[in-house]
Amino acid sequence: MFDGFINSLYILASIFFILSLGGLSHQTSAVRGNVFGILGMILAVLGTIAARVTDNLEIVVAMMAIGGLIGILVSRRVQMTAMPQLVAILHSLVGLAAVFVGFANFIEPLKTYEGVENIVHEVEIFIGVFIGAITFTGSVAAFGKLQGIITSRPLMLPARHWLNLVIIIVSIWLGAQFLGNESHAAATNFLLIMTLLAFLLGLHLVLAIGGADMPVVISMLNSYSGWAAAATGFMLESDLLILVGALVGSSGAILSYIMCRAMNRHFVSVIMGGFGTTGGSASSAVEGEISEILSDEAAMLVETARSVVIVPGYGMAVAHAQHPVAELTKKLQAHNIDVRFAIHPVAGRMPGHMNVLLAEARVPYDIVFEMDEINPSMPDTDVVLVIGANDIVNPSAQDTPDSPIAGMPVIEVWKAKHTIVLKRSMASGYAGVDNPLFYKENNRMYFGDAKDSVDRLVALVSWSLELTKFKS
Ligand code: TAP
Repeated sequence: MFDGFINSLYILASIFFILSLGGLSHQTSAVRGNVFGILGMILAVLGTIAARVTDNLEIVVAMMAIGGLIGILVSRRVQMTAMPQLVAILHSLVGLAAVFVGFANFIEPLKTYEGVENIVHEVEIFIGVFIGAITFTGSVAAFGKLQGIITSRPLMLPARHWLNLVIIIVSIWLGAQFLGNESHAAATNFLLIMTLLAFLLGLHLVLAIGGADMPVVISMLNSYSGWAAAATGFMLESDLLILVGALVGSSGAILSYIMCRAMNRHFVSVIMGGFGTTGGSASSAVEGEISEILSDEAAMLVETARSVVIVPGYGMAVAHAQHPVAELTKKLQAHNIDVRFAIHPVAGRMPGHMNVLLAEARVPYDIVFEMDEINPSMPDTDVVLVIGANDIVNPSAQDTPDSPIAGMPVIEVWKAKHTIVLKRSMASGYAGVDNPLFYKENNRMYFGDAKDSVDRLVALVSWSLELTKFKS
């Protein structure tokens, strides 16, 4: 009776998780998706405590209270721009948990296994610890790169592919020694050595990937953390954890595939690393004259346009400019100007970064378009406002074959009649590549913090709107 009740709680939680993923696939249903996810997690935690915690309940409650408190503090303090680092460090905890559960399960199993059952259980432990260890150090390295503690330049050790291969082969050999080993102490040592090697492999795999490929790394580690959770589910014989882990693992893998397509990279070549060096190649250094624009002229250019496209990038997130940008959109629409947003799949520092910011500022979804949808209409666009974006509008991705971002699809803003780039300086973007867009004849640079610049535009456009009303 009690088991049946717990199972129905788990099934309900699983349904909520599936509905949550479905909801998160579109902006309009994303909030609902989050609510489903929260409900699923509440049921999963309550069900697990009811089913498994027979003693030490007070320790579990105390640990949950401490963990929950840390979670609340972190979520209140973390800046939107630091979200990718937070996600990376949280993934590392999933990996570490899988390692700890694996060791605990081997040293003191939940029950005694015999014969084939024992071998299967040991395989689960070995694979779970292996994936968990790679996820742990890989995510810590990703955190370091995103936080700027470690350089985003790829680490190119000589014979690095051989190093990875040797680690994998030695790990397989260690696995063969570990399985069914009569001596528990010797088996523990084999498991320990494999864990250290897997730590090294995770670190090396991510350090070898360059800055420009980081979006794929983030989604890939997301996927790894899911598989680590699924492996933990096998070790603990928890169907719910297996299911949730598989959902996260497969959705992360699909996201990695989408990211690879968005950047025109092959998944295997990203994993092998070495792309996306910072600094750019010598041939990507751009020379020429830039043309600056001041607020009055920029405001005049946008308010006399028939169509305006806004391309937000990481700088909009840094400047917290999304609210003034939404305000500017309303003002321009009041001038009967067609305003649309163009979103690049890897704009910002995490998947969907720009969509989240625009949704927060209540920009209507029906004027937000993906890169592929908007590129064909660029030649018919009067003005493009590039707000804190750089790499995603860099023409050298198309016309400089040896550029670190060569082949990455970009928003073809230079095809519009005019472009105005809002940024603080001539500094390069995340990939560290110079941007020839800034030197094009139809481009003007509007220097300053994006929020201040857009605030000024809003004031000027509002003023001219009032003037028009007054005249009529
Ligand atoms: P970036 O190429 O990083 O360019 C952002 C620009 O914003 C910078 O050139 C910077 O120039 C400007 N900026 C910064 N703070 C600003 C402020 N307060 N006001 C105005 N401008 C400001 O951004 P992007 O075009 O969005 O491209 C994203 C890049 O990040 C890609 O290379 C992508 O591969 C990488 N990446 C993406 C992800 C995901 S999943 N989206 C994850 C990791 C890495 P100034 O300093 O001159 O102002």
